[in-house]
Amino acid sequence: MCGIVGYIGQNQAYPYLIGGLKKLEYRGYDSAGIALHKTNDLQVVKKTGKVAALEEAFRTKDTQSTLGIGHTRWATHGVPSDENAHPHYSNSGNLALVHNGIIENYASLKEELLQKGYQFKSDTDSEVLLNFIEDIYQNNDCSLEEAIRIALKRVTGAYVILILSIEYPDTLFAARKGSPLVIGIGKGEHFLGSDASPMLEYTKEVVYINDYELAIIKADQLILKNLGNETLTPYVQKLDLELAAIEKGGYEHFMIKEIYEQPQAIFDSLRGRLDPENLSITLSGLDKIKDKLIAARRIIIVACGTSWHAGLLAEYWIEELCRVNVEVEYASEFRYRNPIITSDDVIIAISQSGETADTLVALENAKSKGATIFGIVNVVGSSIARISDAGIYTHAGPEIGVASTKAFSAQLTVLLLFAIKLAEFKQSASEELRKQLTKELSEVPQKVQYILDSTVDGIKDIAKNYQHATDFLFLGRGYNFPIALEGALKLKEISYIHAEGYPAAEMKHGPIALVDDTLPVVFIATKDKVHEKIVSNMQEIKARSGKLISVVTADDQLAMSLSDENIQIPASHEIIAPILATIPLQLLSYYVGIERQIDVDRPRNLAKSVTVE
Ligand code: M6R
Repeated sequence: MCGIVGYIGQNQAYPYLIGGLKKLEYRGYDSAGIALHKTNDLQVVKKTGKVAALEEAFRTKDTQSTLGIGHTRWATHGVPSDENAHPHYSNSGNLALVHNGIIENYASLKEELLQKGYQFKSDTDSEVLLNFIEDIYQNNDCSLEEAIRIALKRVTGAYVILILSIEYPDTLFAARKGSPLVIGIGKGEHFLGSDASPMLEYTKEVVYINDYELAIIKADQLILKNLGNETLTPYVQKLDLELAAIEKGGYEHFMIKEIYEQPQAIFDSLRGRLDPENLSITLSGLDKIKDKLIAARRIIIVACGTSWHAGLLAEYWIEELCRVNVEVEYASEFRYRNPIITSDDVIIAISQSGETADTLVALENAKSKGATIFGIVNVVGSSIARISDAGIYTHAGPEIGVASTKAFSAQLTVLLLFAIKLAEFKQSASEELRKQLTKELSEVPQKVQYILDSTVDGIKDIAKNYQHATDFLFLGRGYNFPIALEGALKLKEISYIHAEGYPAAEMKHGPIALVDDTLPVVFIATKDKVHEKIVSNMQEIKARSGKLISVVTADDQLAMSLSDENIQIPASHEIIAPILATIPLQLLSYYVGIERQIDVDRPRNLAKSVTVE
């Protein structure tokens, strides 16, 4: 979703701004723009399309400036166009703004401004906000800083804004509510970004701006205030991230790099937590709310998309091992449903980015009702991590490809650690089972590596053979049902082929009508307690000439004999198997996307971090 960059300092702003926008491309966007502060002028250049088109447009321009802001836009209000792209000028031309988020009451503010004679060049809520600020500034005896504060108190919705003013050649104004903003501290310079990736090569010292904070930034000074004009002390953190982690490192796409990073990502999520010698688990995040968890009548898991699928599998695991009631909720529904929440409830939030707007607001609501929030988050220092009372980082490393892969397997790893540890606290599963699962979990990185090495060639062939299908069905039962949903989501995202995930037994209640000899049906049919049942479901598809592609346990002759194509994964406990079964489905989606020449890292219409609802 929209990306924001800003620079103020002794050096040229343009190289950081254009380079930063490229680093933020992974978030998803449809247009890009930059504003540079010139003496007595603000130079705005913006273009529909890729950052490369913006760079081209700048080729003939003078880019000399030490103060500037930039933006990649993911359309919300108004179609992708040069006019709707950011930065926007105010009516006087004295101010320029970039905005990430949605101003919900923009229509009434616009009406107010239209009556005062304001004109608008774009359809955006962002241009309304800027002119609203300008109007307050021009008609009150106040500084620009004060005008911004007054305006933001009247605005509802979410925003990060960066503002330049002709009158303030040495100041960049920034504010946030609900969307992420990081400020990097350099020597006599400041770098701004929607996340830390643009500034990694310049500084490791950063400040994460909180909601309702306004930053007044000069080359050598960062003043942080709340909307009540009280000065706050910026909390400077050190980034534990290397530049190489956000580069492709020889791979053709970030997605395939991240698929191949999974043995390491899973290992990193286990490191320091699972002791393979003693088969014990230490989770300090969990210890913090141990009593609450043991006493909890239920656990509610809140997430979106792939993270929601991780939550769904965790429901099966936690109910099985910990004998506590678990509910899994789409954050977007949960936040508007007036759910019954009490202080006895523990809410587990799952999020790669830690910035997903629906998840964040759902948690804020639950927290205000007294629930305890436990965050399972990948991005360190993100909003969801900060709102959580306790939590576990997944440590998957930066995930740049829009389709979530290594973040998902790391989420599963951490959720299973959570379930085993809680079972230990509650003594709800035998020691023997807990030890067996702990041992098998420690072996997952090697098994994932084996799957990557042994299945890729066969999967490339399957992708070639089925790339022209118009629909896919993904079926699984029990622990493998959430994996079927995830397989279908992955395929739709990066191949644009319609795909549906279903519990295999539900197929008879409707989707079976779709089955004919053109429909590929992907079965996740590893050996487990419902294996015979899913084999019957495979027979039912076969009897109707559907094409069976199956993920099976190695040497499962029966399942293999029923399948047109099979992908074998190593034998494992049924609780562990779904983590392994995920890997071939990611590879299948990737290679189908490649066959169909899709931009797999940045599929159309999608954003990596969904910071608007
Ligand atoms: O950052 P989050 O985990 O909160 O994101 C949730 C979803 O937007 C995300 O998982 C999305 O479904 C991915 N594109 C899936 O590949």
